[in-house]
Amino acid sequence: MTANALDVDPRITGEWFAVIASASLKTGEPIATTLAGEPLVLWRSADGVAHVWRDRCPHRGARLSLGRIAGDRVHCPYHGWQFAADASCAHWPAHPAEAPPAVARAVAYPAQEAYGLVWTCLGEPARALLEFAPYHQPGRRAGIDGPHDFNACGPRIIENFLDLAHFPFVHPGVLGEVPHTSVPDYEVITTSAGVEGHRCRFWQPKPSGLATGGAEVEYTYRVLHPFVASLGKLPDRPDAFDVLMVTSPLDETHTRVWKINVFADCDDAQAERFVGFSRAAMLQDKPIVESQWPKPLPLDPRAEVHQRADRLAAAYRRWLRERGWSYGVTTA
Ligand code: FES
Ligand code: FE
Repeated sequence: MTANALDVDPRITGEWFAVIASASLKTGEPIATTLAGEPLVLWRSADGVAHVWRDRCPHRGARLSLGRIAGDRVHCPYHGWQFAADASCAHWPAHPAEAPPAVARAVAYPAQEAYGLVWTCLGEPARALLEFAPYHQPGRRAGIDGPHDFNACGPRIIENFLDLAHFPFVHPGVLGEVPHTSVPDYEVITTSAGVEGHRCRFWQPKPSGLATGGAEVEYTYRVLHPFVASLGKLPDRPDAFDVLMVTSPLDETHTRVWKINVFADCDDAQAERFVGFSRAAMLQDKPIVESQWPKPLPLDPRAEVHQRADRLAAAYRRWLRERGWSYGVTTA
């Protein structure tokens, strides 16, 4: 076994996952995190580039995140080996006059920044990073909420995000209100890239952070990745907004969540109303999603009982199954 082959979970290699908000990754401060059980150290070099490395020194396995960044190098806390931005060991203090050998390298994973987040892939990327077009539309502004850590599997959180029928019960007075409980039929489209729900209509007392009255509103949902989905809402109103729901597995049953909210350009106070509205809904969802068991999302259609309003969730489960996805789900 090579140093690079240490037990990364093969079920998630090839997929891009978010690991931190870009704004939280400051130059010179190493940050420890975990992705699918893999300990990572995140750091930003002086040229602004984000780095995602295995949090393990190749010398004796100490956590690099306990070290420091100096001179644009990561200094291991144990014997002081210094790793340059290309992950090679540039200096080993026990032999200061000798160049370290080429095998003395940290394990660096690909990193890219998009939608206000740093993303990485723990293997060879199988596809490009997902596309969330509203983020790039002119005249709009983004506000990020999170991270929130859920004691739940990512696919349960995504399925909750796609669900309309819970609104009057989990978000009363805001996203729904008894007796307006009926979920009209909507359209579901499945493509190789994901699953979409169109013309998803529902009556809501307060459909946005700026809304002053109730209305029947329309959502468009898109699953963009096994752990990421988006919604668009109120398309013809000035308080229209889109949300990118990004979940990332700390391990199989613990998930870090960010919501990227996109809305018309506005002042900071209005932006906080959009972000706060989104955050409040998520905090209402959290205890329910954490209560669901089994924790993994069952992909066998016989494992749970369904209602017609669940067609989008059923399509998401089917898409995961057909894709051979096995992380955070059960298949038998
Ligand atoms: Fe890192 Fe020895 S364990 S320098
Ligand atoms: Fe909800």
